[in-house]
Amino acid sequence: MKVAGLTALITGGASGLGAGAARVLSAAGVRCALLDRNLDLARELAAELGGMALGCDVVDGPGVAAAIAEVSAKLGTPRIVLNAAGIDVAIRTAGPKGAHSLEEFERVIRVNLTGTFNVARLAAQAMIALPPLNEDGERGVIVNIASVVAQDGPIGQVAYAASKAGVQGMTLPMARDLAPHGIRVVTVAPGMFETPLASGIPQAWIDSIIPTIPFPKRWGKPLEFGALVRQICENPMLNGEMIRIDAAIRMGIDRA
Ligand SMILES: NC(=O)c1ccc[n+]([C@@H]2O[C@H](COP(=O)([O-])OP(=O)(O)OC[C@H]3O[C@@H](n4cnc5c(N)ncnc54)[C@H](O)[C@@H]3O)[C@@H](O)[C@H]2O)c1
Repeated sequence: MKVAGLTALITGGASGLGAGAARVLSAAGVRCALLDRNLDLARELAAELGGMALGCDVVDGPGVAAAIAEVSAKLGTPRIVLNAAGIDVAIRTAGPKGAHSLEEFERVIRVNLTGTFNVARLAAQAMIALPPLNEDGERGVIVNIASVVAQDGPIGQVAYAASKAGVQGMTLPMARDLAPHGIRVVTVAPGMFETPLASGIPQAWIDSIIPTIPFPKRWGKPLEFGALVRQICENPMLNGEMIRIDAAIRMGIDRA
């Protein structure tokens, strides 16, 4: 799929990985709509990129539907969707601090898993109405973000790991659901990327894990993540799979 001239809807687009992908796609000629609950931050980046900002929570059904309608009217219906909104907590299942709060568990599942599904289902419904773009019959692509924690979850990451394993798990069935409409679904599992989300990770843990990364021994950069998102958009053979972008990291046990 040639990306120049297309519209992308990027949730969590105000910050971190979503912002990195917005910069890469925008430089490739994509009109970017940044949907984020932090509207002020989304507005700043949208102004810089010449895109648009929408203040919305990804778990809000009518709100996301209205946001997609607004983007479609102003920039064109998105053929690229990047689900980059997400949250993290570090709480153990049980222990001296008590049992894991059920509310916190459900909050993480709701934003990371239900929010991703909510945006994907509504964006796909809008995309189905568009004409195909090429001889493959391709209409667009949905890119979700899981995490390497979906596969190697450390201590204290039970809620986050469950939410991200859910995102991994829905990748293939969603790709199969949408295949008749020429819409691909690909999930990316980042390792450690330097973003505001990661600023909550204890420094001692970071100092212990960076030397264990095979190569390169450093944080990933949001623009490196964005380069993979662009390749996923452009390469029609990528579909129904989760791709790790992680410098070969395998998480150990410790975290919280
Ligand atoms: N940074 C990493 O190392 C890393 C690694 C693996 C996976 N991830 C995942 O990548 C995604 C992006 O993370 P990031 O590191 O860029 O974090 P970030 O905090 O920099 O950006 C996340 C953005 O999502 C927005 N957001 C959060 N909840 C929202 C909601 N309910 N509705 C709308 N917007 C919401 C925030 O306002 C923020 O702008 C997340 O799903 C995260 O779990 C990050």
